[in-house]
Amino acid sequence: MRVLIIGSGGREHALAWALIRSPERPRLFVAPGNPGIWEIAEPVDIPVADQREIVRFCTAERIRLVVVGPEELLSQGIADVLRDNGIAVFGPSRKAAQLEASKAFAKRFMEDNGIPTAQYRVFSVAEREAALRYVENHPLPLVIKASGLAAGKGVTVAQTREEALAALEGLFGGVLGQAGETVVVEEYLAGEELSILALCDGAEYVVLAPARDYKRALEGDRGKNTGGMGAYAPVPWVGPSLLERIHHRILQPTIQALQRYGTPFVGCLYAGLMIVGDEPYVLEFNVRFGDPEAQVVLPIAEADWLTLLGSAAVGRLARSALRAPSRQHACCVVLASAGYPEAYRTGFRITGVEEAMQHGVLLFHAGTRWENGALWTAGGRVLHVVAVAPTLEEARQRCYAAAECIQFEGKTYRRDIAT
Ligand code: AMP
Ligand code: GLY
Repeated sequence: MRVLIIGSGGREHALAWALIRSPERPRLFVAPGNPGIWEIAEPVDIPVADQREIVRFCTAERIRLVVVGPEELLSQGIADVLRDNGIAVFGPSRKAAQLEASKAFAKRFMEDNGIPTAQYRVFSVAEREAALRYVENHPLPLVIKASGLAAGKGVTVAQTREEALAALEGLFGGVLGQAGETVVVEEYLAGEELSILALCDGAEYVVLAPARDYKRALEGDRGKNTGGMGAYAPVPWVGPSLLERIHHRILQPTIQALQRYGTPFVGCLYAGLMIVGDEPYVLEFNVRFGDPEAQVVLPIAEADWLTLLGSAAVGRLARSALRAPSRQHACCVVLASAGYPEAYRTGFRITGVEEAMQHGVLLFHAGTRWENGALWTAGGRVLHVVAVAPTLEEARQRCYAAAECIQFEGKTYRRDIAT
């Protein structure tokens, strides 16, 4: 079976790694991919935003399944166009992708469907004065969010009035362009964060291991929000009763409501949760695999990923392709370029990969480039080091032992992942 993966990060590398393990031995293609993915998937030289060319390629090459990584493409309707052309795709329609592409839509959706989430107000740029007044008078801390897609960088948790006002002025002033023209201001929730990924076929779903990701750039959860600096799974304190509540209060009502709206969800529904006491609240929905959550939840599950994703894509989820939860644990540490998530430099030689691999880890590429027989940095998040072991402690130790072997100028990483 021929499969096309769309995307170029560590998440897509993990997806390719998982899919190629299927007993069906799929032939993988990737657009655009990266040097790590190209070791197992054939590169496709088509701009991913060119939907017509993607469809033409899939038809000509008899692609049976397309797996879409990035949210931007989903919110632009790539899944709709592929489906309209008879091509199976693991990823939601443009309308269902609104759950991530518009936080204002997602909040309203949750409110209408009784799904627990923080109290909030939505303001458009035309309501700037009202927004400023609201922020001046509301108890702190307050969370200010760009409604549109902002690659994890559109959220400010403001501890002071000044920070809240500055965030609001920034968004309305256009720092994130259109994404910040509408703003969600919400109540701060104190608790433990958790990522839950559910694979859905429109009506049915299965959940993967609960994961924790580390969004802040610096140790101790300080610094700017990033695309993610590390992750681990499973999360040991998530027991059956909490999982039950997550199913009943969040996942089931969400999937059922999307069906009722006539926009059934096909793909990976990612619920970013805050657990307050014993109660789960939704901080955000994403409509695709998390990055770096995919890098930890895929390697520890015993699954035939091709059957799982392929069956979900055609509305007949094969639950049995995901066998009993694995007893393994995974830890992922992101090696980033100095400065990320703000300005950073690239083009530095990467060494020590072979030494790192001797620790029995997986190395998922994100921002790398292969040139003149060597590997070079080419992005903010460069490499994801992932270790799988029978205990989280062992996974963490192996992950860090390997991470230390890899060298490049400006290499930056958090030392407190899974501690
Ligand atoms: P989001 O993109 O909406 O998940 O927000 C990014 C990060 O900001 C989350 O992972 C949380 O750490 C934090 N955050 C978002 N909303 C809230 C909230 N209502 N209360 C506390 N922290 C939040
Ligand atoms: N790890 C956060 C995200 O994928 O959005």
